[in-house]
Amino acid sequence: MRFLITAVPTREPIDPVRYLSNRSSGKMGYALAEAALADGHAVTLVSGPVAISPPPEASLVSVETAREMYDAVAAHLPGVDVAIFCAAVADYRVASVAGEKIKKAEEELDLRLVKNPDILGSARTVFGFGGLLVGFAAETHDLARHALDKLRRKQCDLLVANDVSRREIGFDRDDNEVTLFFPDGTREELPRASKRSLADLLIARIVALPKQETQEMGRQDGPPAA
Ligand code: PMT
Repeated sequence: MRFLITAVPTREPIDPVRYLSNRSSGKMGYALAEAALADGHAVTLVSGPVAISPPPEASLVSVETAREMYDAVAAHLPGVDVAIFCAAVADYRVASVAGEKIKKAEEELDLRLVKNPDILGSARTVFGFGGLLVGFAAETHDLARHALDKLRRKQCDLLVANDVSRREIGFDRDDNEVTLFFPDGTREELPRASKRSLADLLIARIVALPKQETQEMGRQDGPPAA
């Protein structure tokens, strides 16, 4: 099958030397790409900037900001069978990026932020994606409630939720522990494991999911312009 995987944080510039971002290391998303490749699938990896190396067999699409990631996903979704959105996308960007380095003249500095496009949320509704859609949820509280809300609102076939308030798993750790939420209301808790082992389990669950009836239609139509 053909996979598209988004991974790592986006960076949202403030001025030529500073940016807003988050603690994502890319380990979970890159482990998923490695596991999908090891299972014999083709992988397009849409990745923000990160210190670790992507698997060489993946087709890498490098982006920096959420809007660049949105455009890259829109361009590469046609023909994809499985899309996994593991990236920690910045929900907001700076409204007006300074052209020159901001000098520290004032005691306080206000930055006005505006919302970024929801890439996963656009997969079905804007891009017309008809393949298997897998989202992640990074939560610090009420994990099940927020995960179920994202599963339904973003029309996913599977939602992978992790508790990022725990220091031993989640952001920038080698291990993770996730709960899987399915559209029929069932859920499955996977025990703590290395991200690479967990990725093998996730790919096995994903390829066993019932295929979407609309998959062929999504492939033919392709995404409308963003
Ligand atoms: O990279 P690591 O250090 O290995 O850490 C792994 C991880 C914690 C980043 C990963 O396991 C994870 O939880 N990824 C999702 C992070 C996230 O942004 O979750 P969210 O609950 O804020 O977003 C929900 C979903 O919508 C995600 O699939 C996200 O990719 C997607 N999204 C969010 C905002 C946006 N503007 N566009 C999106 O596509």
